[in-house]
Amino acid sequence: MGMVCTDLRLVMKLFDIVIVGGGGAGLYAAMEAMKTNPGLNVAVISKVYPNRSHTSAAQGGANAALANTAKDDTVELHIFDTIKGSDYLADQDAVEVLCSEAPKIIRELENMGTPWSRLDDKTIAQRPFGGAGRPRCCYCADKTGHTILQTLYEQCLRKGVQFFNEYFALDLALDGSRSKGLIALNIKTGRIEPFHARTVIFATGGYAKMYWNRSSNAAGNTGDGQAIAYRAGIPLKDMEFVQFHPTGLRKSGLLVTEGARGEGGYLVNTLGERFMSRYAPSKMELGPRDLVSRSLETEILEGRGFDSPAGKYLHLDLRHLGADLIKSRLPQIREMCMYFEGVDPIDEPIPVRPTAHYSMGGIDTDNFGRTAMGGVYAAGECGCVSVHGANRLGGNSLLDILVFGRIAGRAAAEEARGFNPAPITESELAEKEQELRSFMKPSGHYERYGTLREELGQTLAQNVGIFREASKISKGIGDIVALKERFEHVRVFDTSDVYNTNLIQVLELRNMLELAETVAAGALVREESRGSHTRTDFPVRDDENWHRHTTFTQEGGHPKLGFKPVTMGRYELQERTY
Ligand code: FUM
Repeated sequence: MGMVCTDLRLVMKLFDIVIVGGGGAGLYAAMEAMKTNPGLNVAVISKVYPNRSHTSAAQGGANAALANTAKDDTVELHIFDTIKGSDYLADQDAVEVLCSEAPKIIRELENMGTPWSRLDDKTIAQRPFGGAGRPRCCYCADKTGHTILQTLYEQCLRKGVQFFNEYFALDLALDGSRSKGLIALNIKTGRIEPFHARTVIFATGGYAKMYWNRSSNAAGNTGDGQAIAYRAGIPLKDMEFVQFHPTGLRKSGLLVTEGARGEGGYLVNTLGERFMSRYAPSKMELGPRDLVSRSLETEILEGRGFDSPAGKYLHLDLRHLGADLIKSRLPQIREMCMYFEGVDPIDEPIPVRPTAHYSMGGIDTDNFGRTAMGGVYAAGECGCVSVHGANRLGGNSLLDILVFGRIAGRAAAEEARGFNPAPITESELAEKEQELRSFMKPSGHYERYGTLREELGQTLAQNVGIFREASKISKGIGDIVALKERFEHVRVFDTSDVYNTNLIQVLELRNMLELAETVAAGALVREESRGSHTRTDFPVRDDENWHRHTTFTQEGGHPKLGFKPVTMGRYELQERTY
């Protein structure tokens, strides 16, 4: 590892915008910035190749009130479903932006070439999704994220966005109280490189991979952007809200899209019951995710789950849908079930259990993606605007990355015009190099990455999972603090410069440990049940004391809590039933 910058594209270069993350939010931001001002220098840095970003794993679709499948759908109904789904914690002005931009952005993608699935009349098809009053989820079979990502990547290349693939973002570089860019590790060479930039947009996705194999997330969803922001003093928001998706594959936690239930799939217990009739009699399998996940977990806890060496599970039965529908609308799901579970859903039910899927919390932003620090933006799952509040509706995540990726790209393009930051110095790079080298120093007592990583996932799943209570959360916090102390002794055994994945894993673990502490701290302090956050010791939503956002800033290495009001609009607080 050497601090001398070797990439000639970086030497002496000042970027207008550096975007961290090459998923949907990052690519939409990059494309939009170039569209706003084609003269800008816009870079996307990504620890993977952009078309391998987690957006490519999004199966189900993106919501928009196009009124193709249900002629009476409206933007207003979409807004209401989203606010109700959020358990009234979403900021209503932001939700209005999300839902009213939705039809435009879906058509814009269509014009760029996204191959949406079609109705017989050739308009964009829409399927029912959880918590939605109308079928409004636009999809490309069960590979929606993948197709959107390809579309955006093509457009970015066409517009001259510069890509720095296999770069791991380490930390912001600061010019007084604002950002002057970012320091990153070139994974291919081991060099520490400066990204001197007028503005930075974080679009690094979520942090639900901290739940290890109880997660549908890609290995790389380790909250890097949120952790960098947090270390730099930028507040995070609503971190306790982690969404469990009801149908993860039993062994791997990989996602079986809600689209499978949207197409008519049933959830069944050991008694052969469609148990959702007990929990959401009107919506059944298409209740919102928080409710459906709690229902599966309850069935398991009350002894109506199937048993296996890989743990308890329930059945998602698609057999009655028939081979043709499964092959045409859910081809990837079929393939995954066969590959990861040895089950063909045409002939057998799919073994499923809830899996950590989405982070409603993230970097606190306004409706333009601006954070508390000048020159720094966040968009998509990495940010918290907040449009999802305490529980996101399926199909609103792809929409969020598109709408708010675009807005952040435009806003950063405007701001980039007027600021000339001081350069990133050699000594700043040397300091980073020193920090990374220290992980490789031999010492008497050492800890291994793999052990700490697994223990973190286990304690989160057991103590800060779907059902939470004070004693368990406190145990979780104790475990996380102890893991952070043990992390001080973590050792990177691979000392090579080239593709040092051991080092990357350790850096990702550092990020996850910092964020896990905020998740658990938020879960402990929020003494109510709202959306994805279910406290068995405080089972009722408490609007008087808790209708507010939590915020987290790092002080003395630990989270300091604060609060922010929720922006209300035309929808008053109501009881949430389905
Ligand atoms: O079930 C799914 O396809 C997931 C969609 C989403 O998280 O929005």
